Amino acid sequence: MPRRERLEKKAEAMERQYEENSLMLNKDQEEFQVTEAVFDRPTLEGIYRLIHRKIIDKIKGVLKAGKEASIYWGLDYDGRELAIKIYYTSTSEFRKGMMKYIEGDPRFKRFRKDSKSIIYTWTQKEYSNLQLAESAGINAPRPISFYRNILVMSFIGLDGVPAPLLREISLEDPNQFYDQLTDEIRFLYQKAGLVHGDLSEYNIMVWEKKPVIFDFSQAMLKFHPLAEELLRHDIETINSYFVKIGVNVYDNIALMEWIKTGEA
Ligand SMILES: Nc1ncnc2c1ncn2[C@@H]1O[C@H](COP(=O)(O)OP(=O)(O)O)[C@@H](O)[C@H]1O
Ligand SMILES: [Mg+2]
Repeated sequence: MPRRERLEKKAEAMERQYEENSLMLNKDQEEFQVTEAVFDRPTLEGIYRLIHRKIIDKIKGVLKAGKEASIYWGLDYDGRELAIKIYYTSTSEFRKGMMKYIEGDPRFKRFRKDSKSIIYTWTQKEYSNLQLAESAGINAPRPISFYRNILVMSFIGLDGVPAPLLREISLEDPNQFYDQLTDEIRFLYQKAGLVHGDLSEYNIMVWEKKPVIFDFSQAMLKFHPLAEELLRHDIETINSYFVKIGVNVYDNIALMEWIKTGEA
Protein backbone atom coordinates (compact mmCIF):
# COMPACT_ATOMS: atom_id res chain seq x y z
CA MET A 1 0.00 0.00 0.00
CA PRO A 2 1.44 3.42 -0.89
CA ARG A 3 2.49 5.57 2.02
CA ARG A 4 -0.20 8.18 1.53
CA GLU A 5 -2.96 5.62 1.52
CA ARG A 6 -1.54 4.01 4.63
CA LEU A 7 -1.51 7.31 6.44
CA GLU A 8 -5.04 8.09 5.37
CA LYS A 9 -6.23 4.72 6.59
CA LYS A 10 -4.54 5.33 9.88
CA ALA A 11 -6.06 8.77 10.24
CA GLU A 12 -9.47 7.33 9.42
CA ALA A 13 -9.11 4.65 12.03
CA MET A 14 -8.09 7.24 14.61
CA GLU A 15 -11.03 9.39 13.65
CA ARG A 16 -13.38 6.43 14.06
CA GLN A 17 -11.93 5.57 17.40
CA TYR A 18 -12.23 9.17 18.48
CA GLU A 19 -15.93 9.25 17.53
CA GLU A 20 -16.63 5.99 19.31
CA ASN A 21 -14.88 7.19 22.37
CA SER A 22 -16.62 10.51 22.50
CA LEU A 23 -19.89 8.60 22.32
CA MET A 24 -18.67 6.51 25.19
CA LEU A 25 -17.89 9.56 27.25
CA ASN A 26 -21.13 11.18 26.17
CA LYS A 27 -22.98 8.68 28.30
CA ASP A 28 -21.58 10.67 31.12
CA GLN A 29 -22.52 13.98 29.64
CA GLU A 30 -21.43 16.22 32.46
CA GLU A 31 -17.93 14.85 32.66
CA PHE A 32 -17.38 14.93 28.96
CA GLN A 33 -18.19 18.59 28.94
CA VAL A 34 -15.73 19.27 31.71
CA THR A 35 -12.95 17.79 29.64
CA GLU A 36 -14.16 19.10 26.31
CA ALA A 37 -14.25 22.63 27.59
CA VAL A 38 -10.64 22.68 28.67
CA PHE A 39 -8.63 20.25 26.60
CA ASP A 40 -7.36 20.04 23.09
CA ARG A 41 -7.78 17.03 20.91
CA PRO A 42 -4.46 15.28 21.65
CA THR A 43 -5.33 15.50 25.34
CA LEU A 44 -8.77 14.00 24.76
CA GLU A 45 -7.17 11.25 22.69
CA GLY A 46 -4.74 10.72 25.56
CA ILE A 47 -7.59 10.27 28.00
CA TYR A 48 -9.25 7.77 25.66
CA ARG A 49 -5.99 5.92 25.31
CA LEU A 50 -5.71 5.52 29.07
CA ILE A 51 -9.32 4.32 29.20
CA HIS A 52 -8.60 1.77 26.47
CA ARG A 53 -5.48 0.65 28.27
CA LYS A 54 -7.71 -0.03 31.28
CA ILE A 55 -5.78 2.37 33.45
CA ILE A 56 -8.78 4.64 33.93
CA ASP A 57 -12.38 3.45 34.03
CA LYS A 58 -14.21 6.66 34.83
CA ILE A 59 -13.47 10.30 35.37
CA LYS A 60 -15.90 11.43 38.00
CA GLY A 61 -15.25 15.11 38.39
CA VAL A 62 -12.76 17.87 38.80
CA LEU A 63 -10.97 18.29 42.13
CA LYS A 64 -9.07 21.42 41.36
CA ALA A 65 -8.55 23.55 38.29
CA GLY A 66 -5.20 25.23 38.83
CA LYS A 67 -3.07 27.54 36.73
CA GLU A 68 -0.96 24.82 35.19
CA ALA A 69 -3.08 21.72 35.48
CA SER A 70 -6.44 20.38 36.54
CA ILE A 71 -6.76 17.46 38.89
CA TYR A 72 -9.61 15.02 38.37
CA TRP A 73 -11.03 12.35 40.59
CA GLY A 74 -11.45 9.03 38.81
CA LEU A 75 -11.86 5.32 39.31
CA ASP A 76 -9.93 2.38 37.93
CA TYR A 77 -11.55 -0.88 36.80
CA ASP A 78 -11.35 -2.31 40.31
CA GLY A 79 -13.17 0.71 41.71
CA ARG A 80 -10.03 2.17 43.27
CA GLU A 81 -9.87 5.93 43.43
CA LEU A 82 -7.46 7.79 41.17
CA ALA A 83 -6.11 11.30 40.97
CA ILE A 84 -5.63 12.32 37.34
CA LYS A 85 -3.50 15.39 36.77
CA ILE A 86 -3.87 16.92 33.33
CA TYR A 87 -1.46 19.69 32.38
CA TYR A 88 -2.75 22.40 30.09
CA THR A 89 -0.89 22.53 26.82
CA SER A 90 -1.64 26.18 26.19
CA THR A 91 -0.08 28.17 29.03
CA SER A 92 3.07 29.55 27.52
CA GLU A 93 4.27 31.55 30.52
CA PHE A 94 4.53 28.42 32.55
CA ARG A 95 6.35 26.63 29.72
CA LYS A 96 9.22 29.08 29.88
CA GLY A 97 9.57 28.44 33.59
CA MET A 98 9.78 24.68 33.04
CA MET A 99 12.93 24.73 30.96
CA LYS A 100 15.36 25.42 33.76
CA TYR A 101 14.00 22.44 35.70
CA ILE A 102 14.34 20.06 32.76
CA GLU A 103 17.67 21.22 31.36
CA GLY A 104 20.64 19.59 33.01
CA ASP A 105 18.64 16.62 34.23
CA PRO A 106 20.42 13.50 32.94
CA ARG A 107 17.07 11.70 32.71
CA PHE A 108 15.93 14.09 30.00
CA LYS A 109 19.07 14.73 27.98
CA ARG A 110 17.43 14.89 24.63
CA PHE A 111 13.99 16.38 24.82
CA ARG A 112 12.11 18.16 22.10
CA LYS A 113 11.64 21.84 22.67
CA ASP A 114 8.39 22.51 20.90
CA SER A 115 5.72 23.59 23.33
CA LYS A 116 3.68 20.38 23.51
CA SER A 117 6.75 18.22 23.95
CA ILE A 118 7.93 20.34 26.86
CA ILE A 119 4.63 19.77 28.66
CA TYR A 120 4.83 16.05 27.90
CA THR A 121 8.36 15.92 29.29
CA TRP A 122 7.18 17.82 32.35
CA THR A 123 4.45 15.21 32.93
CA GLN A 124 6.96 12.41 32.52
CA LYS A 125 9.27 14.15 34.95
CA GLU A 126 6.60 14.27 37.63
CA TYR A 127 5.92 10.59 37.03
CA SER A 128 9.62 9.66 37.28
CA ASN A 129 9.99 11.71 40.44
CA LEU A 130 7.01 9.93 42.00
CA GLN A 131 8.62 6.61 41.07
CA LEU A 132 11.82 7.58 42.84
CA ALA A 133 9.82 8.69 45.88
CA GLU A 134 7.87 5.45 45.86
CA SER A 135 10.94 3.23 45.72
CA ALA A 136 12.42 5.16 48.63
CA GLY A 137 9.27 4.54 50.68
CA ILE A 138 8.27 8.21 50.83
CA ASN A 139 4.68 8.95 51.81
CA ALA A 140 3.47 10.38 48.47
CA PRO A 141 0.90 9.52 45.80
CA ARG A 142 1.79 6.28 44.02
CA PRO A 143 2.48 6.76 40.32
CA ILE A 144 0.25 4.57 38.16
CA SER A 145 0.70 5.73 34.58
CA PHE A 146 1.25 8.71 32.32
CA TYR A 147 0.57 9.53 28.73
CA ARG A 148 1.31 12.80 26.99
CA ASN A 149 0.19 15.53 29.46
CA ILE A 150 -1.82 13.18 31.68
CA LEU A 151 -0.52 11.72 34.93
CA VAL A 152 -2.44 9.03 36.80
CA MET A 153 -1.67 8.43 40.46
CA SER A 154 -3.26 7.00 43.58
CA PHE A 155 -5.84 9.18 45.25
CA ILE A 156 -5.00 10.49 48.71
CA GLY A 157 -8.30 10.86 50.53
CA LEU A 158 -11.59 9.03 50.50
CA ASP A 159 -14.76 8.96 48.40
CA GLY A 160 -13.66 11.80 46.17
CA VAL A 161 -12.71 14.06 49.06
CA PRO A 162 -8.99 14.74 48.97
CA ALA A 163 -7.02 14.70 52.20
CA PRO A 164 -6.79 18.16 53.76
CA LEU A 165 -3.78 20.29 53.00
CA LEU A 166 -1.45 21.06 55.86
CA ARG A 167 -2.54 24.70 55.72
CA GLU A 168 -6.20 23.75 56.13
CA ILE A 169 -6.12 21.93 59.44
CA SER A 170 -4.84 22.41 62.91
CA LEU A 171 -2.57 19.55 63.83
CA GLU A 172 -3.09 17.42 66.91
CA ASP A 173 0.61 17.24 67.58
CA PRO A 174 2.51 19.83 65.51
CA ASN A 175 5.88 18.87 67.02
CA GLN A 176 5.52 15.25 66.07
CA PHE A 177 4.29 16.21 62.63
CA TYR A 178 7.31 18.46 62.13
CA ASP A 179 9.59 15.58 63.05
CA GLN A 180 7.81 13.25 60.64
CA LEU A 181 7.94 15.79 57.86
CA THR A 182 11.62 16.60 58.28
CA ASP A 183 12.29 12.84 58.27
CA GLU A 184 10.42 12.55 54.97
CA ILE A 185 12.44 15.40 53.48
CA ARG A 186 15.63 13.72 54.64
CA PHE A 187 14.63 10.35 53.17
CA LEU A 188 13.58 12.09 50.00
CA TYR A 189 17.05 13.59 49.75
CA GLN A 190 19.10 10.62 50.84
CA LYS A 191 17.11 7.61 49.61
CA ALA A 192 15.25 9.00 46.61
CA GLY A 193 17.98 11.49 45.70
CA LEU A 194 15.41 14.26 45.24
CA VAL A 195 14.80 17.81 46.34
CA HIS A 196 11.12 18.72 46.11
CA GLY A 197 11.67 22.36 45.24
CA ASP A 198 8.18 23.71 45.93
CA LEU A 199 7.56 22.45 49.41
CA SER A 200 5.05 24.36 51.49
CA GLU A 201 1.83 23.93 53.44
CA TYR A 202 0.10 23.90 50.01
CA ASN A 203 1.90 20.80 48.73
CA ILE A 204 1.62 18.64 51.83
CA MET A 205 -1.54 16.76 52.73
CA VAL A 206 -2.34 15.28 56.10
CA TRP A 207 -3.62 11.75 55.90
CA GLU A 208 -3.86 9.25 58.75
CA LYS A 209 -2.07 11.87 60.83
CA LYS A 210 0.99 11.71 58.60
CA PRO A 211 2.45 14.10 56.04
CA VAL A 212 1.94 13.19 52.39
CA ILE A 213 4.17 15.21 50.08
CA PHE A 214 2.83 15.72 46.54
CA ASP A 215 3.16 17.92 43.42
CA PHE A 216 6.56 16.64 42.30
CA SER A 217 6.85 18.06 38.78
CA GLN A 218 9.57 20.58 39.59
CA ALA A 219 11.47 18.24 41.94
CA MET A 220 15.14 17.83 41.04
CA LEU A 221 17.79 15.18 41.39
CA LYS A 222 19.98 16.21 44.29
CA PHE A 223 23.08 16.51 42.10
CA HIS A 224 21.47 19.08 39.83
CA PRO A 225 23.16 22.50 40.10
CA LEU A 226 19.89 24.11 41.25
CA ALA A 227 19.10 21.52 43.90
CA GLU A 228 21.03 23.12 46.75
CA GLU A 229 19.23 26.42 46.38
CA LEU A 230 15.84 24.73 46.10
CA LEU A 231 16.48 22.67 49.21
CA ARG A 232 17.41 25.79 51.14
CA HIS A 233 14.21 27.42 49.99
CA ASP A 234 12.11 24.37 50.95
CA ILE A 235 13.62 24.34 54.42
CA GLU A 236 13.04 28.04 54.98
CA THR A 237 9.42 27.77 53.86
CA ILE A 238 8.69 24.75 56.04
CA ASN A 239 10.44 26.22 59.05
CA SER A 240 8.60 29.51 58.84
CA TYR A 241 5.26 27.72 58.61
CA PHE A 242 6.02 25.63 61.69
CA VAL A 243 7.29 28.63 63.60
CA LYS A 244 3.94 30.25 62.85
CA ILE A 245 2.05 27.33 64.39
CA GLY A 246 4.23 27.35 67.48
CA VAL A 247 6.79 24.63 66.86
CA ASN A 248 10.28 25.08 68.19
CA VAL A 249 12.07 24.34 64.91
CA TYR A 250 15.70 23.52 64.13
CA ASP A 251 17.54 26.43 62.64
CA ASN A 252 17.70 26.50 58.86
CA ILE A 253 21.38 25.70 58.51
CA ALA A 254 21.39 22.86 61.03
CA LEU A 255 18.30 21.32 59.43
CA MET A 256 19.83 21.57 55.97
CA GLU A 257 22.97 19.82 57.16
CA TRP A 258 20.98 17.08 58.88
CA ILE A 259 18.80 16.48 55.84
CA LYS A 260 21.89 16.10 53.68
CA THR A 261 24.09 14.07 55.97
CA GLY A 262 22.13 12.90 59.00
CA GLU A 263 21.96 9.14 59.32
CA ALA A 264 18.99 7.87 57.31
N1 LIG B 1 -2.90 12.25 44.54
C1 LIG B 1 -3.83 13.11 44.95
N2 LIG B 1 -4.88 12.70 45.71
C2 LIG B 1 -5.83 13.56 46.11
N3 LIG B 1 -5.85 14.86 45.81
C3 LIG B 1 -4.85 15.34 45.06
C4 LIG B 1 -3.79 14.51 44.59
N4 LIG B 1 -2.93 15.26 43.88
C5 LIG B 1 -3.44 16.52 43.90
N5 LIG B 1 -4.59 16.58 44.60
C6 LIG B 1 -5.42 17.76 44.85
O1 LIG B 1 -5.27 18.69 43.78
C7 LIG B 1 -4.70 19.91 44.24
C8 LIG B 1 -3.66 20.43 43.25
O2 LIG B 1 -2.65 19.48 43.04
P1 LIG B 1 -1.15 19.87 42.71
O3 LIG B 1 -0.44 18.63 42.28
O4 LIG B 1 -0.57 20.65 43.83
O5 LIG B 1 -1.32 20.80 41.43
P2 LIG B 1 -0.86 22.31 41.16
O6 LIG B 1 0.18 22.16 40.13
O7 LIG B 1 -2.12 22.96 40.68
O8 LIG B 1 -0.33 22.92 42.43
C9 LIG B 1 -4.12 19.60 45.59
O9 LIG B 1 -4.15 20.72 46.43
C10 LIG B 1 -4.98 18.47 46.12
O10 LIG B 1 -6.12 18.99 46.77
MG1 LIG C 1 0.51 22.35 44.16
